[in-house]
Amino acid sequence: MALIKKTQPAPKQAPDRSMMITGDITRAYLDSILVEERLIGAELADIRTVIFGREYSSPVMMPAFSHLPSYAEGRYTGLVEYSIAAKELNILNWIGMSDNETYGTIALTGADTVRIIKPYADHTKILDRIAFAEAHDAVAVGMDIDHTFGRNGGYDVVIGEQMGPQSKDDLKEYIASTKLPFIIKGVLSLRDAAACAELGVGGIVVSHHHGSMPYALPPLMILPEIVKELEGTGIEIFADCGMDTGSDVFKAVALGAKAVSVGRAMLPALQEGGTEGVKAKITQMNNELIRMLSFTGFRTPGEADATVLWKDGKPMA
Ligand SMILES: Cc1cc2nc3c(=O)[nH]c(=O)nc-3n(C[C@H](O)[C@H](O)[C@H](O)COP(=O)(O)O)c2cc1C
Repeated sequence: MALIKKTQPAPKQAPDRSMMITGDITRAYLDSILVEERLIGAELADIRTVIFGREYSSPVMMPAFSHLPSYAEGRYTGLVEYSIAAKELNILNWIGMSDNETYGTIALTGADTVRIIKPYADHTKILDRIAFAEAHDAVAVGMDIDHTFGRNGGYDVVIGEQMGPQSKDDLKEYIASTKLPFIIKGVLSLRDAAACAELGVGGIVVSHHHGSMPYALPPLMILPEIVKELEGTGIEIFADCGMDTGSDVFKAVALGAKAVSVGRAMLPALQEGGTEGVKAKITQMNNELIRMLSFTGFRTPGEADATVLWKDGKPMA
């Protein structure tokens, strides 16, 4: 029997429907939270926020992004443009997967930056990137532990780089290697939150990384429980996923987040307007956050709490 030659390229993986469902669930959860008004005696709110001892103009932060497509025929990388916006607006900048050369370019913008490092199988890469970030004045370093596993039944491979599991001892080694606060990005359970406290991390991001696991909990659903779990530890608690408006940010801070990152919702503004587009988007979110805080009688994001939030016809707290 003649052998059938395989000349066809392997079929492309089908779109990740479960990832889209996770996004929809997260959006629906955010939109299911309603807000009461408390106007008598209310004054205009002030949204300045202190993170890791530094004051920023708002609790809205840049996302830990990487491998963005090139913008404006390669004149922009995207990462540099939003980092400049962070510097000019005085908000905290975040950068995701990056080699040291790229990180050096970001550091040159002068933005206060958190560097999130991938869970590389080769741990020397992690230690090297932590040391480089510290030498280039990063505010904090961390790891997106939710990018360990891929969709192909194995550890993920990201732009040709092999990811691998990270034990508690591995994380301890990274934390001990730097004077900077270490952030675990991708905490979505009380179990991991408690482990973070035990490890002595400086911060966590309550996040599902825009759906790296199907049917992941919306971050704001578990956030209040995590806040309770970490009470008194001094760990900074951040959140992301689906943040698009000042109202989303308001709900996150009212449920206990210190600050939030705006990810994909910022992309159209970045693509169309570069630095100025990002600045306009963040300013719009800041203004809406001021309005939400003022309407609910809170003077600062830190004062906001869940007593003004309603869900399914009942107060949330
Ligand atoms: C193009 C792109 C690149 C990303 N790269 C990284 C990364 O390198 N490191 C990381 O921790 N998260 C990365 N993320 C995840 C975001 O930081 C964020 O957790 C996620 O997009 C959820 O927020 P959003 O719903 O506001 O987009 C990336 C997301 C996108 C869309």
